[in-house]
This record gives sequence, C-alpha cells and structure tokens, in this order.
Amino acid sequence: MRLNNTLLPAYVNLVASLQNEEPSAVLARVEGQIRDGALDLADVFVTLDPMGALITGILRIARMGKDAAHLTQWRGREGGGTRRAIADLVLEARARAEELGIRELSTRVYDSRMTEAYSDALQDAGFALTNRRVEYRTPLSQMGHEGATSLAWKTMADTGEGVVLDVLRQASIGTPDGVDTSRGSAAIENLLDGSYADMDPRAVQIGYSGGQAVAILFCLVDTGTGWSTIAFMGLVPSHRGRGLGTQTHLHGIETLRALGGVTYHDGTSESNDTMRHLFEKQGCVESDRMEEWHAAPRQA
Ligand SMILES: CC(C)(COP(=O)(O)OP(=O)(O)OC[C@H]1O[C@@H](n2cnc3c(N)ncnc32)[C@H](O)[C@@H]1OP(=O)(O)O)[C@@H](O)C(=O)NCCC(=O)NCCS
Repeated sequence: MRLNNTLLPAYVNLVASLQNEEPSAVLARVEGQIRDGALDLADVFVTLDPMGALITGILRIARMGKDAAHLTQWRGREGGGTRRAIADLVLEARARAEELGIRELSTRVYDSRMTEAYSDALQDAGFALTNRRVEYRTPLSQMGHEGATSLAWKTMADTGEGVVLDVLRQASIGTPDGVDTSRGSAAIENLLDGSYADMDPRAVQIGYSGGQAVAILFCLVDTGTGWSTIAFMGLVPSHRGRGLGTQTHLHGIETLRALGGVTYHDGTSESNDTMRHLFEKQGCVESDRMEEWHAAPRQA
C-alpha cells in the first residue's frame, strides 16, 4: 500500500533500524524532504505485517527528469522479502509511475541484495533484466589532474542544445551505455535529473578538436553531501581510441572538483570493456556489481 501520515511512524522506525539511525533523526529528514517537495508519500510503497502494526518492506519511486524514474531497491525486515510481497510493491509502483506519465522505469539491485525471490518478483511485475553494471566510488582527492589537453571545452550555455543533442546521439552509437536522444531535450533533463537552467552551466560541456564537436560530459554534484558523478561521457565514433576518452574523463573530474564534489561515484555496463579499462586506469575503486532491470512498456 501507499505510505500515508498514519503509517509514517512505523516507516520511520523501519528506516531507522535498517540504517542504524535514531528514529528522531530519520523523522526530521523525512519531514524536511516532504516540506521541500523532494518526497511525496504517494511515491513510497509499504508492506504491513498481518497485525497491521509493523512495516515489513519498503520501496519508493525516485523521479528523474521529465519522464524517467527509478525504483529504489526493496528493503525490509528479515523474512519480509517474499516473492509475493516484493512483486505486489513493484506492481503498485508501476501503476503510480503510469499515473505520473513516466515512460521509462528502471531499478538497480546490488548482487549482495539479490535473491531468487527478488528476481522472480521483478519478472512477475513485468520487469526484464537488461544489463549488469560495475560501480566505482573514489575520493576526488585521489583522482588525477587534467594535464595538457588537445580538447577545447564549451558549456551548453555557449554551444546551444542542438550541438549537445547531436554529440550525445553520436557518442551513444555502439555502446551499451548509450542514451536515447529521440525525445530531444527530455534526454538531457533525464541525465541531469533536473533543468539545465537551474544548474551551473558546467554541468553539460562539449569538447572540440580542431573546431569539431567530438566529446561530451554531464557533470553532477550534490553540494550538500559532496557526492558527485559523471552522468554520461562519450566521444563521437571517429575520435575514439586516441586517448581523448582519458582527457575527457580528467576534464570531468576537474569539473566535479570545481563544482564542490568530494566523493566520485560512477559506473558502467559490465560489457563496456573500454570504459571499465578507463576507470581502472584512472584509479577508480570498484565498490559494487549490480543488475539493472527495466519495466517492459505496457501494451496499448
Ligand atoms: C568510452 C570512451 C569514452 C573511451 O574513449 P577513447 O578515446 O576510446 O579512450 P582512450 O583512447 O582515451 O582510452 C581507452 C583505453 O581503453 C583501452 N581499450 C580500448 N578498447 C578496449 C577494450 N575493448 N577492452 C579493454 N580496453 C580497451 C585502450 O587501449 C585505452 O587504454 P590505454 O590508455 O591503457 O592504452 C569511448 O570509447 C566512447 O565514447 N564510447 C561510447 C560512449 C560510452 O560508452 N561512454 C561511457 C558511458 S558510462
């Protein structure tokens, strides 16, 4: 069922016990998120025990950009993660996503949290395993610095959106991590998880080589926590394999630092050997492996 104000204390108790936090601290955070509009209780789904007093499992929709959303991993009490319980929550979340006009709904589950029941439940709820990912988490202080570079960088504020969409489309060719640019600016908003106009212009940058737009970077920083990521980077096919990927990554790292980033969190498909090689060469520290699942579009 959807979370509501009556169930909020039980929800807070479960989150506090899962995260080893004081319930009062969780309550203050959740109330703050509701006030700021960052959390809508209608996006959170909970399973109750038969007595209706305890919440045994939770998951929520995290909206990303215009028409994409992510389902958080199921979390709950020992024994609460049955196939039926998880499938019911995921189905409720899917229905809510449809209500919100979300076209792309995905979820990522750490290998360490995946069970047979979880995997069966996702299939029952119409999700399909689409990818496996490697994630890296590294302090930016441990990462290298941008040296001599043959790329000249401009922000999207200077290039305009058309150039960005064109380089994004080309950089998405031949990679499992490509972005669907057919919906135009929604692709940019989904990657940024917000509107470019509200961000530092360096969030989206284009790298030029000999006057040609060849490289792209999406740099995101949460200044509150210091969390940072390169939401997408890539090169047009004609300019790959000559060291420009390494230069692009280092420019991204320098940008994350300049925007106030502290911890660099990033990832790629397990099958993207070039990007994995690049991360490892740059000293990124592997933190997790996970499965990525997508909701199949509903039949019209
Ligand atoms: C990933 C990408 C940015 C790398 O850029 P690039 O210019 O091709 O990379 P570079 O030439 O700087 O370096 C690539 C490194 O990977 C190595 N490499 C290339 N192909 C490889 C493969 N199949 N397996 C392992 N390593 C590989 C190269 O030898 C080089 O290593 P080295 O510097 O130790 O010799 C580029 O290929 C690209 O744009 N791909 C499409 C977009 C994409 O997948 N982006 C990642 C989003 S997460």
